[in-house]
Amino acid sequence: MSYFEEYSDALKGLKFIDLFAGIGGFRTAMESFGAECVFSSEWDKHAQKTYLENYGEMPEGDITTIEAEDIPAHDILCAGFPCQPFSISGKRMGFEDTRGTLFFDVARIANHHKPKILFMENVRNFETHDNGNTLKTVKETLNEIGYDFWCKVLNASDYGLPHNRERIFMIAIRKELNVKDFKFPIPTYEETCLRDIILPDEETAQYIINRNDMTIDESKIPSETLLNKLPNRPVRVGTINKGGQGERIYSDLGHAITLSAQGGGPGSKTGCYLINGKVRKLAPKECARVQGFPEGFKIPVSDGQAWKQFGNSVPVTVLKHILVSIITTPEISSILENEESLEDRELATA
Ligand SMILES: C[S@@+](CC[C@H](N)C(=O)[O-])C[C@H]1O[C@@H](n2cnc3c(N)ncnc32)[C@H](O)[C@@H]1O
Repeated sequence: MSYFEEYSDALKGLKFIDLFAGIGGFRTAMESFGAECVFSSEWDKHAQKTYLENYGEMPEGDITTIEAEDIPAHDILCAGFPCQPFSISGKRMGFEDTRGTLFFDVARIANHHKPKILFMENVRNFETHDNGNTLKTVKETLNEIGYDFWCKVLNASDYGLPHNRERIFMIAIRKELNVKDFKFPIPTYEETCLRDIILPDEETAQYIINRNDMTIDESKIPSETLLNKLPNRPVRVGTINKGGQGERIYSDLGHAITLSAQGGGPGSKTGCYLINGKVRKLAPKECARVQGFPEGFKIPVSDGQAWKQFGNSVPVTVLKHILVSIITTPEISSILENEESLEDRELATA
């Protein structure tokens, strides 16, 4: 039994919503633990296509135009909302000061439905954005509407994925649940590298980069015998042109650089990797793997859209580790047991 299988029913009976859903990284993680999605919102038509194909549901569009009352009741609100500045200008910070931002929509929906838990994710520099005021406003707003708040920057590379992706994860829990301390998962530091997840050469020929301004520094290529001593991070072995954005080459014995929704250069969005003697980008399916999506995840869009979607998404494996932390938080696990017994009782009386 894999580590997560033990928890496959742990959220059974709980309902969640998936805001700024993208391709459903949160949904994949939540459903794998038995939770039921009752509403999703994503306005990008290409991401909607991937979402529909994988979850059988077309997300609603622009969240700013959806009334909170039109969203079903739920226990957990998931949101990887875009990072925007708040216009605080030295005044008090809180709910009203977030108006006009997408975080305001998270807060107004939470304020209406009062879900037990908010599970959110954002870019690493959300922590220091606007000298820390953005994060401070988020925390104060959530405190004001009845939540305790915890956050931490975690790197997917430290949780079993060959992907250097640092993101801030935020958990807000209703004050009535009286959670004194929420502990984010400790890193697993599993040894893993890109080579563990790459596709066979026959399936990746179209991603090879042919340039005559490529330099590989043989002395930097890690020895296979040292594999276990590699740092679980990207290992740079070469350069294209001047080594600018999308022009750095990495070893497949290290990790992928952060997948990104934007970015140029020959390795745009995925980076360039020396794999079986050739330099190439990662195929969309490899991007799905380094983000921890399941093998059966469908990719019904162009490569360009797929790279963008995986670059915008969230490391599913890290979300699952955080869910285990949520499930095993004592004040929460007792509620989950009650939910289960409530469901059992409903079944028994049906
Ligand atoms: C950082 S991505 C989140 C990705 C998601 N966590 C996933 O697993 O793929 C933010 C998403 O919010 C969507 N978005 C931005 N503004 C929106 C709005 N007003 N209504 C609905 N979706 C919006 C974007 O299209 C983008 O896909």
